[in-house]
Amino acid sequence: MSGIIALKVTNLDVHYKDFQAIWNVAMEVKEGQIVSVIGANGAGKSTLLNTISGLLNPTQGNIEFFGENMAGLAPHKTVDRGISLVPEGRRVFPRLTVYENLVIGSYTPRSRPGRDEGLGRLYELFPILKTRHNQMADTLSGGEQQMLAIARALMSEPKLILCDEISLGLAPVIIRDIYRRLRIINDAGMTVVLVEQDIKRSLKAATQAYVMLEGKVVLEGDPSSLTEEQVKKAYFGI
Ligand SMILES: Nc1ncnc2c1ncn2[C@@H]1O[C@H](COP(=O)(O)OP(=O)(O)OP(=O)(O)O)[C@@H](O)[C@H]1O
Ligand SMILES: [Mg+2]
Repeated sequence: MSGIIALKVTNLDVHYKDFQAIWNVAMEVKEGQIVSVIGANGAGKSTLLNTISGLLNPTQGNIEFFGENMAGLAPHKTVDRGISLVPEGRRVFPRLTVYENLVIGSYTPRSRPGRDEGLGRLYELFPILKTRHNQMADTLSGGEQQMLAIARALMSEPKLILCDEISLGLAPVIIRDIYRRLRIINDAGMTVVLVEQDIKRSLKAATQAYVMLEGKVVLEGDPSSLTEEQVKKAYFGI
């Protein structure tokens, strides 16, 4: 890890009309780090990631990415600056092939020239996608679709990937496999923010953790210094 701050979120508020989903959230992610954000259903995890990606506009606060202000920037611009989202529910393009889904991932001007090289690299990391490259995305298994969603996000050559519940609905053996690959990606220098409901898995993977409850960060720290009881209390708000 370089010690350089990749992402710095301060004082963030996000509303859906009159409903406030995020309250004064602050978060810091260092370059090369895996940071996890955990919390129960409705805690505001996806709202946070979607706001960092530019899909939602904050009503207040700053989002800095390597010192540049990103709050309110359109999603295609945040992708071009190096932030890529693996959205909740995978959201692969169902009636496009694996190959076509991946090509769409490299639509930004910055990543287009490296498309073939990127494809080669990702087919190496996810060999199953190579063997299925002409298969329609909606005919892939859940685990394969999740791998495709991650690979598609990586096609834009991001510096940071935001992963929204990549283990949801998958068998433990597949989850382990996906996490193993994520570790390889991180070892190669990628900064990662992981949103999960699975407390154990995401704490194990991360070097810094944030627990959210009802739109607020209620606990943060190095997972090795947080006790299971502290985390559970914060998670359930008890
Ligand atoms: N489009 C929307 N319009 C209005 N309210 C919304 C909208 N999307 C989310 N919310 C509300 O914002 C809150 C936070 O939702 P969010 O999806 O960020 O939670 P989450 O932590 O990702 O939950 P989950 O683990 O179930 O995915 C919830 O109370 C939800 O009902
Ligand atoms: Mg969510």
